[in-house]
Amino acid sequence: MALLEPEEIPAPSPKSVQTGKGAAKAAAKPTGKASPKPTEKASPKPAREPSEKRAPKSVRVHPDAREMANRQREISVSEFFSKNRHLLGFDNPAKALLTTIKEAVDNSLDACEEAGILPDLRIEIVELSETRYRVVVEDNGPGIVRQQVPRVFGSLLYGSKFHRLRQSRGQQGIGISAAGMYGQLTTGKPIIIRSKIDANKPAHHFEIQIDTNRNMPVVGVDKEVEWDVDHGTRVELELEATYKRGKRSVDGYMEQTALANPHARIVYKAPKDPEMVFERATNELPKEPMEIKPHPHGIELGMLMRMLKDTTSRNVKAFLTTEFSRVSAKAAEDILKAAKVDESTSPSRVHRDSAEKLYQAINATKLMAPPTNCLSPIGEDQLLAGMRTQFQADFYTANSRGPQVYRGNPFLIEVGLAWNVKEMPGDDLAELYRFANRVPLLYQQSACAVTKGVISTSWKSYGVQQSRGALPTGALVIMVHIASVWVPFTSESKEAIAHYPEIIKEIRLAIQECGRRLGIYVRRGQREAMELKKLSYIEKYIPHIGIALKEILKLSDQQEKDVVATLRDTLERSRNL
Ligand SMILES: Nc1ncnc2c1ncn2[C@@H]1O[C@H](COP(=O)(O)OP(=O)(O)OP(=O)(O)O)[C@@H](O)[C@H]1O
Ligand SMILES: [Mg+2]
Repeated sequence: MALLEPEEIPAPSPKSVQTGKGAAKAAAKPTGKASPKPTEKASPKPAREPSEKRAPKSVRVHPDAREMANRQREISVSEFFSKNRHLLGFDNPAKALLTTIKEAVDNSLDACEEAGILPDLRIEIVELSETRYRVVVEDNGPGIVRQQVPRVFGSLLYGSKFHRLRQSRGQQGIGISAAGMYGQLTTGKPIIIRSKIDANKPAHHFEIQIDTNRNMPVVGVDKEVEWDVDHGTRVELELEATYKRGKRSVDGYMEQTALANPHARIVYKAPKDPEMVFERATNELPKEPMEIKPHPHGIELGMLMRMLKDTTSRNVKAFLTTEFSRVSAKAAEDILKAAKVDESTSPSRVHRDSAEKLYQAINATKLMAPPTNCLSPIGEDQLLAGMRTQFQADFYTANSRGPQVYRGNPFLIEVGLAWNVKEMPGDDLAELYRFANRVPLLYQQSACAVTKGVISTSWKSYGVQQSRGALPTGALVIMVHIASVWVPFTSESKEAIAHYPEIIKEIRLAIQECGRRLGIYVRRGQREAMELKKLSYIEKYIPHIGIALKEILKLSDQQEKDVVATLRDTLERSRNL
């Protein structure tokens, strides 16, 4: 076979051009006619091993390490998320609208609760065109100090909640700045903020964009304005979006938010609809969740080493007792003895090997479970009250479980059920409402640990139909709430909860408790239905008995009527018995 000169090798089609590993493989494995086969005749040089072979220069000029180094540079977090906006919940226009409102509302509710203020929220969606909307979210919270406004709204991963262990809706420091960035990317417009922190001080008006290359705010307008409120924050932004109705819409989100936050008053104005008001169902703020220190059983070795480096404690014993929860002086002594580390050692002098021993000793030492005053459940009464206002049903039940721990993080599960819900067809799947720290989760239901917990419960034992691997069937609403200092979401868009076995187990236990109560109700109902069926069957024959008796005993019409009435009466009384 004649060999082709490099110039004669047919140029690869764009599709077949490969780079990286694939290209290396392709170069190493010549195939087909056009592949040059090294022979001594054609090449006086010793033949190379196939793996050493390089593609001829005219096909592809590969960069060397120096050229590659020229292209290597840092990626700012804003650049990353503007390319990966789906990770933040901005993957389609309908979801973008919901995510934007959700982020702003979460922040408003968090801020009000932290400042001890009963939340008063106003949410408005204005349709500018079929694909463009303006969103305004206003709260009566504490406001934001002027210096902080640009960073809060104009840089990603900047917030007050990430570094502390305390139950809140937000945790990552991305939410509202990501919404602002999405608005900016799709409309070119800045996010507009008005904030007031004191009745005697003027409000501030800001217009902010994000410099995505540097993940830094660019302040367009910063001025004082009059605002007729004592304190609060108003966030306004324009974005490319679509407004849809339905369960997974902003309307559905608002209803569910009101359900899980009975202490909030929410005014919601959707495009073309009159204002909707969700009145406060209680004037009591939820129990304030306390901030806690990490529990030593939940940390990993790398984190322990970093904490040893960062601490201000003078010795390792003080480090253990002050930086962690549930480590008493006695427990610290036991840990240090087991790890063979002297208690007066400075934390910065505990190197890797000793840190590993310390880590092992911590995990081998019995410690009290983490404190649970960091959690603020909705509570059974509030769950029931909320469900009663939202659904007309025959039976309601709720169960709030005690706190448990996953990876050192306290969490608790609450479940509510409403059975025989009017307006729900009885032969469809049940409706599942998922909440994390009082925030409704509307997307990624099938990927969520909550769904797994519900599906893996045997509903048939409670008299409720269920097909394998599916939600139960019936006019049933299942509400599941997880409260935690750190909710383990499967992604930054905070849509589904990761499958921690401890969490799934608690969900199932809470459902089982509610299920048992539902089972009693359903079975009682089934018994009564059977009785009724029998009675109606007998009732059908009463007039015929009357006619027969009339003929046999020669009764008058009146006597026949009396006999029928007596029989009916007896039947009715037997039913009451
Ligand atoms: N309406 C508001 N009132 C007071 N403070 C606010 C308000 N909105 C945002 N903040 C402050 O701005 C910070 C950043 O908000 P952002 O939504 O970006 O992150 P986050 O709420 O901390 O976490 P997540 O990304 O999970 O939402 C918050 O941590 C909070 O301190
Ligand atoms: Mg937030």
